[in-house]
Amino acid sequence: MQSNPAAQIVLPTGRTPEPVYRSFADRGGSLADATIMLLDEFGLPPRSHARCDNMLQRDLLDRLEEPPARLLTWNTAAEDLDAMCADMDVEAQRGIDLVILGIGGNGHLGINEPGTPSDAPSRVVELHAETAAATSRYGAETAPTWGVTLGLGPILRASAVWLLATGAHKAAIVRAALEGPIGSEVPASYVRRHENAIVFLDEAAASDL
Ligand code: GLP
Repeated sequence: MQSNPAAQIVLPTGRTPEPVYRSFADRGGSLADATIMLLDEFGLPPRSHARCDNMLQRDLLDRLEEPPARLLTWNTAAEDLDAMCADMDVEAQRGIDLVILGIGGNGHLGINEPGTPSDAPSRVVELHAETAAATSRYGAETAPTWGVTLGLGPILRASAVWLLATGAHKAAIVRAALEGPIGSEVPASYVRRHENAIVFLDEAAASDL
């Protein structure tokens, strides 16, 4: 990130990237010239602890000396959510230099749940039960039923994709994504078709490979 500070970067939230963000900030990393786009958002009230915008603020932005040059988040209160998502795709079409991703327990990327085609645009999505339940880990008092996400299409058109996974609880889905069939049943498997994708795993997440 530091070698191309004017980059357009898509960032995830959740447990996986938090240590990366802490380390980036501790080393004096700067995003002051970068455009940061949030990967996805849950349909939760603005103050909810589990909202991705609030997580990004706490886990990364509050730790930086300067804010990013531009911050693009998802307005889940928009009257026309489809138009809001289309606007995010217009931003993505300017050219995303790097998308950083976590992987859901069911293989989702962002909130591109199993069954999503690889060219899906950004859109409103219904959360699978497992994804909704997982938000309690982020402090959601009531589980969301829907969200909005950057589509697999714009994710896979980015110049570079980094997929991060940590912990033994991700080992089985990491194996399915990296060694199973490539297809919509495990959306994360599509990163294998990207010509500039890097997968970062700790030992526990790599233990089934
Ligand atoms: C969540 C988010 C994803 C995130 C993934 C993994 O549902 N929508 O953007 O990457 O699941 O989360 P975690 O890193 O907390 O395991």
